[in-house]
Amino acid sequence: TEDGILVAQTDDIPDGEAIKIDASVTGTVDDIAIFNDDGEFFALDDTCSHEKASLSEGYIEDGVIECPLHAGKFCLRNGDVLSMPATDNVACHRLILDGTDIRLVPN
Ligand code: FES
Repeated sequence: TEDGILVAQTDDIPDGEAIKIDASVTGTVDDIAIFNDDGEFFALDDTCSHEKASLSEGYIEDGVIECPLHAGKFCLRNGDVLSMPATDNVACHRLILDGTDIRLVPN
């Protein structure tokens, strides 16, 4: 819906961490990773475009998520690939923050 799908509370995701929301909850093709980068929240497809590692298990720094498997990097704001060995972008999704509610608007 326009109001998005309630997927988490802000307190569920400490600064510098991420959670994975199953596709069965979001209705998306891929599972969704939700990241807290210094108090800003971002949502990308969870599966790395290189060899399917879970980006929610990666390392967040300065607006970038680094894949835990081969260190490919993606921009948290738009899913653009930033470094090899990944070469394809990952899908980015919009989040609506409503108090402590985090709502996902799937792309
Ligand atoms: Fe992510 Fe290889 S699986 S960079």
